[in-house]
Amino acid sequence: MTAADWDAAYEDGATDTPVDGHLTALVDGWDPGTALDLGCGLGQNSIWLAARGWTVTGLDIAANAIAGARRAAAEAGVDVDFAVADVREWQPTAEFDLVISTFALPARGPGRTAAIEAAARAVHPGGTLLLVEFDSSLADEGWMAPRDLVTVDELVPLLEGFTLVRAEVVETAHAHGHETRHLPAVVVVARRR
Ligand SMILES: C[S@@+](CC[C@H](N)C(=O)[O-])C[C@H]1O[C@@H](n2cnc3c(N)ncnc32)[C@H](O)[C@@H]1O
Repeated sequence: MTAADWDAAYEDGATDTPVDGHLTALVDGWDPGTALDLGCGLGQNSIWLAARGWTVTGLDIAANAIAGARRAAAEAGVDVDFAVADVREWQPTAEFDLVISTFALPARGPGRTAAIEAAARAVHPGGTLLLVEFDSSLADEGWMAPRDLVTVDELVPLLEGFTLVRAEVVETAHAHGHETRHLPAVVVVARRR
């Protein structure tokens, strides 16, 4: 999808996408630090972290998503640094304790590689990278283009300098309209050495 497509998808500004369960399980019991949410959408993950004391930056290509995320943060009474950015071109200027991308990687190609490499550079030594994305096996269902899916094997080689904590395909709850479907997602958790 293009930036304009994503903007149109967020035109009404309202979804009730739940906070990512892989994120909540990962940081459970951690002391809050700094976090970066790449492709943050309406910001539910960023806001959840900020409400727990994290200092959060959320980036998204869609201006409507960022506007909605700012409204949601104000309603939740938390402060998050939300900004419009294309992760295919974005370069980190700071390092974070936690960098996440949930269902937001660009399509397979140089843009995806650049985004993952930039995400990796944004992780502080000792910090953690969490990537969650629909698994390539979903291509068989025909509703997502193969280039928008991932495999574990294409992500892992991009994480030079990281120790892998998790890299697997997991059935993952995903809100789809009013129903929740369980779909295979690649989950990668890696710690920067
Ligand atoms: C399926 S939504 C996921 C949003 C959120 N991370 C979540 O888990 O609910 C994908 C998000 O990635 C954003 N996105 C897609 N391509 C992007 C890019 N190149 N740079 C930044 N954001 C992008 C979209 O605008 C959209 O908000």
